[in-house]
Amino acid sequence: MDNRPIGIFDSGLGGITVLNELKKTLPQENYIYLGDTLNFPYGSKTKEQIIEFSEKNTQYLKSQNVKMIVIACGTATSQALDEIKSKYNIYIEGIIEPTVDYVKNEKITKIGVIGTEGTIKSGAWGKYLKLKIPNIEVINQACPILAEIVEENKAKTKEAQDAIHNYMKIFKENNVKNLILGCTHYSIIEELIKKEFDYDVNLINTGNTIASKIKQELTKRKMLNKANQNNIKIVVSKYEKGFEKSIKNLLKSAKTLDITYFN
Ligand code: DGL
Repeated sequence: MDNRPIGIFDSGLGGITVLNELKKTLPQENYIYLGDTLNFPYGSKTKEQIIEFSEKNTQYLKSQNVKMIVIACGTATSQALDEIKSKYNIYIEGIIEPTVDYVKNEKITKIGVIGTEGTIKSGAWGKYLKLKIPNIEVINQACPILAEIVEENKAKTKEAQDAIHNYMKIFKENNVKNLILGCTHYSIIEELIKKEFDYDVNLINTGNTIASKIKQELTKRKMLNKANQNNIKIVVSKYEKGFEKSIKNLLKSAKTLDITYFN
């Protein structure tokens, strides 16, 4: 038994979708969620910057005595996970591996991946998918402005509709039926993405896949929280107007919810 919180980080709101899935799967746990709003968006930054931000986030969460760290961000997972895993003595999980395992278990042979510019340029999804499923066909599409649309609450605008329409073209043309939401922000607009298709498409939410993996690991390591606490602390690196409201809308209930701002 280990009652310390689970640490989670993302560049902003996106990782809240992962936190929600974790809460569903592990409702008895405490969580500290760090949104690095100061450095949002991660998608257009260099690999060196992403490593620097991820290190800072890891150090902060470690200073809060977390028992493990979940990188609830596709961009940081694809560009910094290996570096921080080798440097910090704590269990760290990103969104790619558990999702690749899901794709393998489902015996999917053709898959689409959407993500930020940085994520798609890194080639990480294709690399890990092909490593575990050598014959899989992978179709990637970078969606440069989609995370901003979500973070700035512009999902209902024409700009959002046009962007989604353009980004989904390649998948419709190739009749892709399984699509990985490789940026955690995209799960917030899952319904809009689904609507763009005139056939049934399986949108793979990385929050789901990582939550089952974390449950397995906590069980295996005998680190589950048995006290049924469910306290949630949200920390952001820069005050953003509207962020608190968005967090409250996105997050389902918690016994205590504490939002802190710091620079
Ligand atoms: N939510 C993030 C991801 O999963 C980052 C979006 C961004 O900051 O550009 O990639």
